[in-house]
Amino acid sequence: MAILTLVQVVTVIVFNTLATTSANMEGDALYALRRGVEDPDNVLESWDPTLVDPCTWFHVTCDGDNRVTRLDLGNAKLSGSLVPELGKLQRLQYLELYMNNLEGSIPKELGGLKSLVSLDLYHNNLTGSIPPSLSNLSNLKFLRLNSNRLTGRIPRQLTKLGNLKILDVSNNDLCGTIPTSGSFAKFTEESFANNSRLEGPELLGFVRYDLGGECK
Ligand SMILES: *[C@@H]1O[C@H](CO)[C@@H](O)[C@H](O)[C@H]1NC(C)=O
Ligand SMILES: *[C@@H]1O[C@H](CO)[C@@H](O)[C@H](O)[C@H]1NC(C)=O
Ligand SMILES: *[C@@H]1O[C@H](CO)[C@@H](O)[C@H](O)[C@H]1NC(C)=O
Repeated sequence: MAILTLVQVVTVIVFNTLATTSANMEGDALYALRRGVEDPDNVLESWDPTLVDPCTWFHVTCDGDNRVTRLDLGNAKLSGSLVPELGKLQRLQYLELYMNNLEGSIPKELGGLKSLVSLDLYHNNLTGSIPPSLSNLSNLKFLRLNSNRLTGRIPRQLTKLGNLKILDVSNNDLCGTIPTSGSFAKFTEESFANNSRLEGPELLGFVRYDLGGECK
């Protein structure tokens, strides 16, 4: 009897630990962001990793299953870099990190955010190229990466984003040509303005999409 009780107690402890660990996977992903950035205004002060989930943290919104759907940290004076762990937020729809001072590159892992509707990273100090993996975000409607220091070509795969309504990559240092096929057919030159090395639009008789050539 005493042994059975001990077994039951141990079982309960083990199961509770497992449940808590899996439930807070999203909290851990967000906490990796907290560790990756400097936060002079303490907007992330409520982000306590010991809580069972991140749903009570400020600037985080969850659905009825306590899964993260929104991260609203626009204009929050954050500096530092984005972390690949963010790609684990499978139900994230809105990633709003515009108007901060974020540096470094856009993690390719963000291409794993299969529920994402809006990716707003505009007005930061991001460098590197636009990850082709973003072309896997089939629900994406808003992609605003303008006013950073992004380089390289616009990944042609992005033209397959059939739900894309707003694209803004203006005010960067992109090069190569402007794709015009697929969902890009509806975007005007304004979406691409102020990239002094960017040529195009392609396929209008002026420029062909060049796969070779120097463009970094
Ligand atoms: C962007 O980063 C560069 C290089 O680190 C720095 O000199 C510049 O001040 C930053 N710009 C902004 C707006 O923070
Ligand atoms: C898109 O997702 C598929 C399946 O997960 C993966 O194999 C592929 O590498 C991804 N594409 C890009 C460009 O990352
Ligand atoms: C391009 O840069 C100029 C000069 O900095 C600015 O006035 C203009 O608003 C920019 N265009 C866009 C579309 O951001």
